[in-house]
Amino acid sequence: MRFLAQKKHKIALIGAGNIGGTLAHLCLLKDLGDIVLFDVKEGLPQGKALDLMQSAALDNIDCSILGTNDYKYIEGANIVIVTAGSPRKPGMTRDDLLNINATVMNEVGEAIKTYCPTAFVICVTNPLDAMVYLLQHSSGLPDNQIIGMAGVLDSSRFRFFLADHFKVSLKNVDAFVLGGHGDSMVPLTQLSHVNGVSLEEHVLQGTLEANDLAALIQRTRMGGGEIVNLLKVGSAFYAPAASAICMAEAVLFDQHLLVSAASKLYASYGVKRPMFLGVPTVLSGLGVEKIIELPLTKEEQENLNISIKAVEDQINDLERLGFI
Ligand code: APR
Repeated sequence: MRFLAQKKHKIALIGAGNIGGTLAHLCLLKDLGDIVLFDVKEGLPQGKALDLMQSAALDNIDCSILGTNDYKYIEGANIVIVTAGSPRKPGMTRDDLLNINATVMNEVGEAIKTYCPTAFVICVTNPLDAMVYLLQHSSGLPDNQIIGMAGVLDSSRFRFFLADHFKVSLKNVDAFVLGGHGDSMVPLTQLSHVNGVSLEEHVLQGTLEANDLAALIQRTRMGGGEIVNLLKVGSAFYAPAASAICMAEAVLFDQHLLVSAASKLYASYGVKRPMFLGVPTVLSGLGVEKIIELPLTKEEQENLNISIKAVEDQINDLERLGFI
């Protein structure tokens, strides 16, 4: 220990399902630190941890993965990524899902408060904007220490659809999506570019049909649903996991990275009550270092207002159900 220049990072993954398992694999391949994989299901995190450690042997990566059903092992974690919860099943109402996952967020928040109150927390569980709000409530974390993962994923979906449409490298596409993680998200056409030219300009120059742009935006909004329909069981997990890892790395390595993240707002972007909403956020070693307020067009603000209303409704539901 005397010669250890710096301690390894500790990453706690709450939920060892599809996203949790993929997160653990990515942390391992990127050698991000020691990993604790927690789940309420007995055997699941332990089994995945063992399988992953055996894969680490092939890659010669010396990091530890502990699978556990006991929260005490998340003690001292630098980063916590939360994917615990249930997906919506046939016959389940929105309230049913909210009830189940809100109860989970309360448990997870209590554990964070007890064992790692200085961790930076990334919430992935849906309905995202309401769950991250509740997780902050139950954990008592300050605003700079907690975000929701949605915009990075939505933006990367938009980037992929654009690159595929234009038949250009993904490296030549940047895209930005604001708003809640739902059908009302707002892909920004002025601030999304292909080969350095904004999507609006492409439409004006005739290199992108307005109808095609509308279809690409719609496909982005329904991006999660498209995958659910194809998979039949479960929802997307590779891209959600990669998106959360991108955020974790920005904080662990003090990158000052601008991403779209569900961050806490009070009055900016037209919100009328405190809430988490997908907005341009700079992530660094400070956590949420800065929220950038972009000038929006009238149409973008109107679309964002629909998104804000959807998040307000979710928070009202949490209040009505007695969670906050
Ligand atoms: N504490 C810890 N883990 C829990 C709890 C709890 N109270 N309740 C459920 N879990 C675990 C389940 O046992 C399961 O292993 O959460 C895990 C969720 O994994 P999956 O069902 O495979 O879901 P996944 O695809 O990983 O998505 C997780 O992220 O994107 C969102 O909508 C998605 O809300 C979902 C979440």
